[in-house]
Amino acid sequence: MSDHRYSFPAALTLITILFTSRVQSIGVNWGTSASHPLPPSKVVELLKLNKITKVKLFDSNPQVLEALSNSVIDVTVGIPNSMLRTLNSSVKSAESWVHDNLTRYLSARTRIEYITIGDEPFLQSYGSRFYPFVVGAAINIEAALIRAKLSKKVKVVIPCSFDAFGSESGQPSKGHFRPDINKTMIQVLNFLTKTQSPFFVNISPFLSYYQNKNISLDFALFKEAARPHNDTHRLYKNSFELSYDTLITALTVAGFPNIDIVISQIGWPTDGAPNATVSNAEIFTKGILDHFRNKKGTPIRPRVMPLEFYIHALLDEDQRNITVGNFERHWGVFTFDGQAKYQVEFSQSTKSLVNARSVEYFASRWCVVNNNIDMSNATARAMEACTNADCTALSPGSSCFNLSWPGNVSYAFNSYYQQHDQRADSCDFGGLGMITTVDPSVGKCRFNVELKASFSVSLLGSKFDCSLMLIVLMVWLLLERF
Ligand SMILES: *[C@@H]1O[C@H](CO)[C@@H](O)[C@H](O)[C@H]1NC(C)=O
Ligand SMILES: *[C@@H]1O[C@H](CO)[C@@H](O)[C@H](O)[C@H]1NC(C)=O
Ligand SMILES: *[C@@H]1O[C@H](CO)[C@@H](O)[C@H](O)[C@H]1NC(C)=O
Ligand SMILES: *[C@@H]1O[C@H](CO)[C@@H](O)[C@H](O)[C@H]1NC(C)=O
Ligand SMILES: *[C@@H]1O[C@H](CO)[C@@H](O)[C@H](O)[C@H]1NC(C)=O
Ligand SMILES: *[C@@H]1O[C@H](CO)[C@@H](O)[C@H](O)[C@H]1NC(C)=O
Ligand SMILES: *[C@@H]1O[C@H](CO)[C@@H](O)[C@H](O)[C@H]1NC(C)=O
Ligand SMILES: *[C@@H]1O[C@H](CO)[C@@H](O)[C@H](O)[C@H]1NC(C)=O
Ligand SMILES: *[C@@H]1O[C@H](CO)[C@@H](O)[C@H](O)[C@H]1NC(C)=O
Ligand SMILES: *[C@@H]1O[C@H](CO)[C@@H](O)[C@H](O)[C@H]1NC(C)=O
Repeated sequence: MSDHRYSFPAALTLITILFTSRVQSIGVNWGTSASHPLPPSKVVELLKLNKITKVKLFDSNPQVLEALSNSVIDVTVGIPNSMLRTLNSSVKSAESWVHDNLTRYLSARTRIEYITIGDEPFLQSYGSRFYPFVVGAAINIEAALIRAKLSKKVKVVIPCSFDAFGSESGQPSKGHFRPDINKTMIQVLNFLTKTQSPFFVNISPFLSYYQNKNISLDFALFKEAARPHNDTHRLYKNSFELSYDTLITALTVAGFPNIDIVISQIGWPTDGAPNATVSNAEIFTKGILDHFRNKKGTPIRPRVMPLEFYIHALLDEDQRNITVGNFERHWGVFTFDGQAKYQVEFSQSTKSLVNARSVEYFASRWCVVNNNIDMSNATARAMEACTNADCTALSPGSSCFNLSWPGNVSYAFNSYYQQHDQRADSCDFGGLGMITTVDPSVGKCRFNVELKASFSVSLLGSKFDCSLMLIVLMVWLLLERF
């Protein structure tokens, strides 16, 4: 009889464990489009310090994967859009991709969970450049995985962009996939169902708001005060739930109402556009974390949660493509050098975010405009610098927009100088540049000093060693000659 007494609570506990273990976990997107990326070992340390257990990459950089090996962090690796055409047309190329970019890291015990086929290949702005190759590439990669006996471990997924689905009336109950990709989407969904893989989707209340899709800032930021959207008796209090249910309807109409969903990219940028601010990003990120933690679900899908979700992004990247907007380089929860921009609880056990440790910078030196000389060419020089350097913080509504002339010229000069490893000749600008040891930062406008250990050159040692070797080589060649 005493044995019996505990069976019911035990069963309940078991159910609770089963239920919660299936519940979504938090991941982050880790991109490396930076002039001086934080070294991968430091990033992995940062992930561990913050108890982040899932990471999504946009490529399969060997140094990143090596740093992640044995880390007990689940990894998603990415195939760039530029490879989709080749991977569609040849199983052989898919097999080499799997061999070179996957098999070797799995044996080093990096836990690779997913491979994404392209980076948002369905983006409307790409037209038909990439999406016609997606299904073929996915099938070939899957075949290569089966051949390598990895198909049980690693799932092939296709990241769907926020603009792949929508609803003309703005009502989630009228959601559908974009007509131009509807057919391909159904092939994608058939593929995912057959391979038991989840549907990866990027949702972006920031972009919906930025592109003026009839939503208010309050609605995008989960504010109580936001005016709800009424969709025939279903009330929507925030933009995320509205987008999510629009997707659910699109999937249902397409015939796949029960496919598992992973939110593969969600976040709010902190610079490069009006309302892309640190305080708005903090409010948004708290809102989305609360949404996932309270497990209420959405009006169409109450109490059903996505499998996983990935905050976009871990770090700022100063070389991201800014065709969409200057904010593209400012999605990080952490700055480029691994310092938390605001405080959120990524895991219940860590109450606040922990910064990257012992980060190495170049010397405390900046390049500014020398205002003791004729500055009539300064603006033109700054414009020139900005074609290479990162001047996104100077755009209207951004953190350095308030720097008036010639402060903005100095900002451009400094960005160029830092990106060129503080080389003296990169602070020339026809005699207009001047190196200073006084930090020119004002208020929220930060004049960065770049990171010293850049992993893009780590195979050759530091850049300094490299140029030293070059000098030695040149001297030797000269001596040989004469
Ligand atoms: C994808 O590859 C297949 C097989 O090689 C080919 O028949 C098809 O035309 C390719 N798709 C596109 C869009 O080129
Ligand atoms: C491995 O992936 C990288 C890009 O992520 C690519 O440049 C390289 O060609 C891939 N290797 C093979 C054999 O496809
Ligand atoms: C915009 O939103 C308001 C309420 O939030 C709604 O009444 C209106 O119909 C929407 N307009 C469009 C074009 O979606
Ligand atoms: C997309 O395809 C589905 C299934 O074939 C169909 O029911 C739906 O009407 C299509 N939607 C559009 C917008 O073409
Ligand atoms: C929502 O709209 C329906 C009609 O479509 C209406 O009956 C209902 O009262 C509205 N709810 C709210 C809270 O406005
Ligand atoms: C940004 O937000 C503020 C309110 O915080 C608003 O007044 C302003 O119009 C917004 N700017 C843009 C460009 O949307
Ligand atoms: C940025 O993206 C656009 C649109 O996809 C593309 O045309 C352009 O070449 C890209 N720029 C760079 C520098 O890669
Ligand atoms: C400004 O640039 C023009 C064209 O490059 C050059 O001829 C002129 O001397 C420059 N002026 C100054 C003050 O440097
Ligand atoms: C820029 O200046 C205006 C007016 O002085 C001020 O309201 C605004 O907050 C400043 N913006 C930043 C980003 O510092
Ligand atoms: C700096 O500000 C001046 C005056 O507002 C403007 O004409 C110039 O284009 C700006 N330069 C840069 C690099 O933003």
